[in-house]
Amino acid sequence: MSTSLIETQGVSKIFGAFTAVDKVDFGIAENDAVGIIGPNGAGKTTFINILTGNLIPEEGKVLYRGEDITTIKIEKRIAMGILRTFQLVHIFDNITVYENLALSFYRKDENRTVPFNMYLVNFLKRKKIREKVEEALSVFELEKKKDDIVGNLSLGNQKMLEIAMAWIADPDILILDEPFAGISDHEIDDILIILKKLHHKKTIIIVEHKLSKLTELVDTLCVMHEGKVIASGPCEETLNDPEVRKSYWKIEE
Ligand SMILES: Nc1ncnc2c1ncn2[C@@H]1O[C@H](COP(=O)(O)OP(=O)(O)OP(=O)(O)O)[C@@H](O)[C@H]1O
Ligand SMILES: [Mg+2]
Repeated sequence: MSTSLIETQGVSKIFGAFTAVDKVDFGIAENDAVGIIGPNGAGKTTFINILTGNLIPEEGKVLYRGEDITTIKIEKRIAMGILRTFQLVHIFDNITVYENLALSFYRKDENRTVPFNMYLVNFLKRKKIREKVEEALSVFELEKKKDDIVGNLSLGNQKMLEIAMAWIADPDILILDEPFAGISDHEIDDILIILKKLHHKKTIIIVEHKLSKLTELVDTLCVMHEGKVIASGPCEETLNDPEVRKSYWKIEE
């Protein structure tokens, strides 16, 4: 019996003649945090798209709590507790922070079977949303921004909001694709403080290029190169792996 909360066995994703993800075996135990690193085009986003159901692999399996979910749809995986953020933020620009959080909570709670306006008619549901959104605003320190239109926020705040939107759906696994890309060191540190609070309470998978920030958070690293996982394990050991030195650091020995 595997101890991984989510794992892949030999998954591959092929675009035409190009293999973007090549027979990847991966696993993460519940409440651990793993960083996925690798050069541009290594297949990191494609791999997490396989975990979330945005892409179905041509070969291999995805197992969640031991169950084969390889071909299960995105919405069902969200309901199962697999939530993600995107390399380019996916939020509704023209509504407020509060409304984005409320919508995200509703999406998980009702799985979209009841239209949002009908859902809000129900007083108890409204109360539940209000309480949960207020909790999210507090955990992510977004109280002061709650009435701001999201399109007017800094990219750092938008990234924070997107993580809060995943968190409010009560994920078992939080998958973050480059949460630190394009934002200032100060904004990265703000997000890191929050993620550290979630560490060992949620299972976290982070794709990130900013290695020094990433290793402040994760327990293990998984290094991808040309679609393959070339090394994985504790951070320092993995970064000193001979294959990683050659392919990732480009150190000739
Ligand atoms: N839908 C697609 N059709 C064709 N090729 C694709 C598609 N999606 C990704 N690729 C290719 O697969 C390779 C891996 O892309 P992917 O986005 O997974 O890389 P990445 O490791 O996330 O890179 P980055 O660090 O730049 O985000 C790239 O060469 C990319 O061009
Ligand atoms: Mg990517």
